Amino acid sequence: MSLRPPLKLGILGSGRGSNFIAISDTIHAGRLNASVEIVISDLADAPILQLAQQRGYKTWSCPKGNFKTKLEPEIEEQLAAQLKAANCELIVLAGYMRVVKTPLLAAFPGRIINIHPSLLPAFPGLNAWEQALTACIAQTGCTVHFVNEVVDGGSIIAQTKVPILPDDTAETLHARIQVEEHKLLPAVIRQISEGKIVLDRH
Ligand code: GAR
Repeated sequence: MSLRPPLKLGILGSGRGSNFIAISDTIHAGRLNASVEIVISDLADAPILQLAQQRGYKTWSCPKGNFKTKLEPEIEEQLAAQLKAANCELIVLAGYMRVVKTPLLAAFPGRIINIHPSLLPAFPGLNAWEQALTACIAQTGCTVHFVNEVVDGGSIIAQTKVPILPDDTAETLHARIQVEEHKLLPAVIRQISEGKIVLDRH
């Protein structure tokens, strides 16, 4: 049994929430010494919020702003305040589709990680699996990295490769990448919780 207290997580997502479920399941299976303190979405109707509520987690959704790709600074400040109030130690972007700006970065320096569906630095940005398919390459994968002010540009923590098959569609490729995401993201959080990955201070 671990002597460390559970690592307090704040999870941010915009979509289906399958990576959040993978984290929650790993905790419940006793394979990750962490606790989900709050689940936050930038979209009030995102499935991740319903899933989190069904599992009894505290949730919060951002007030509706004027942009699709980023939050207004005052909204991002509210988001950071929610994470602080929940005493989060590590912020996990699990399908969070907004660019992270100064209010959140400054509130949790070196304590935000993201899962991205490609082998970064290849294919940053949206629909990375489609970018990989279009590029006609043999493999892609997923990456967990620290978040900084450069979109999908922070230092890489871990990656898993996924082959691109001749008959792959965007859907089949993304589904196979997600199978690996669901293992990689909890594994990285476990290593952080065990002190095996030192949190980036930059
Ligand atoms: C995941 O594939 C994740 O890598 C991707 O969104 C999906 C969310 O799925 N994130 C990005 O593209 C971030 N740039 P989920 O909501 O089922 O976890």
